[in-house]
Amino acid sequence: MFAVGNWKMNLTLEEALGLASGVVSQVSELGLGAESTLQVGIAPPFPYLHAVGTLLEGSGVELVAQDCHAETKGAFMSWVSAPMLRSVGVRRVIVGHSERRKHGGDDDTRVRAKLEAALAAGLGVILCVGESLEEREAGRQAEVVGTQLRAALTGLSVEQWAETVIAYEPLWAIGTGKTASPEQAGEMHTQIIGQILPELLPAGVDAPFVLYGGSVKPANIDALAAIDGVGGVLVGGASLEANSFGRIAQGCAPGGGGVSNDARSE
Ligand code: PGA
Repeated sequence: MFAVGNWKMNLTLEEALGLASGVVSQVSELGLGAESTLQVGIAPPFPYLHAVGTLLEGSGVELVAQDCHAETKGAFMSWVSAPMLRSVGVRRVIVGHSERRKHGGDDDTRVRAKLEAALAAGLGVILCVGESLEEREAGRQAEVVGTQLRAALTGLSVEQWAETVIAYEPLWAIGTGKTASPEQAGEMHTQIIGQILPELLPAGVDAPFVLYGGSVKPANIDALAAIDGVGGVLVGGASLEANSFGRIAQGCAPGGGGVSNDARSE
């Protein structure tokens, strides 16, 4: 399982370094790396990536960026490209987050371009998908998520799939304190893994991790991690405190409520 903390636009440099070292000490007890099925990542704001990345060296915690531009370089003032991120030690980029789709105008075409740019730069991706409250109330959640996934992932190579993680984040659950019920999350994860991904995956390629995101916290991690098809979590608010994120990572560790990679691909 994969537990990722998305710090969004929060913290000063000093606070970010303090939180990063707190996360490292919390997860060092859980055991990361080759002998564990648990993966942990944190996504600090751009200005702290290099400093936090230096602090994470040797810890096994992945340095994740919150976004990237689709172009590699040029007159795109204030933006950050995937090769730039790679050069400061970033391992993976979040693309298609609903806050980027809503406030930054990222539509499916731009999300696809960013995803391709990240993969071309040698980075992994976390592709976020999810439906709005209106879409869920109209019963359109599977159609909306299917459209987002097809737009971003159709035609990826075997190597590109190996670097791809998906995060299902229902918009109505992000930052609202409302979490999808185990039935709602389970139904969507089953749909993604059982119906949508088999259309898209080349023969013989295992399904990628499908994370759940939206008001994940210590109080609900065990129930979420136990849901069939949930391969980890993308955590906003509750990742801003080391103990809280540590407890969430523990819930994703083998024996901590989460399933192993082996169970995921069965
Ligand atoms: P939240 O954010 O955990 O604060 O709901 C999740 C996300 O936006 O990835």
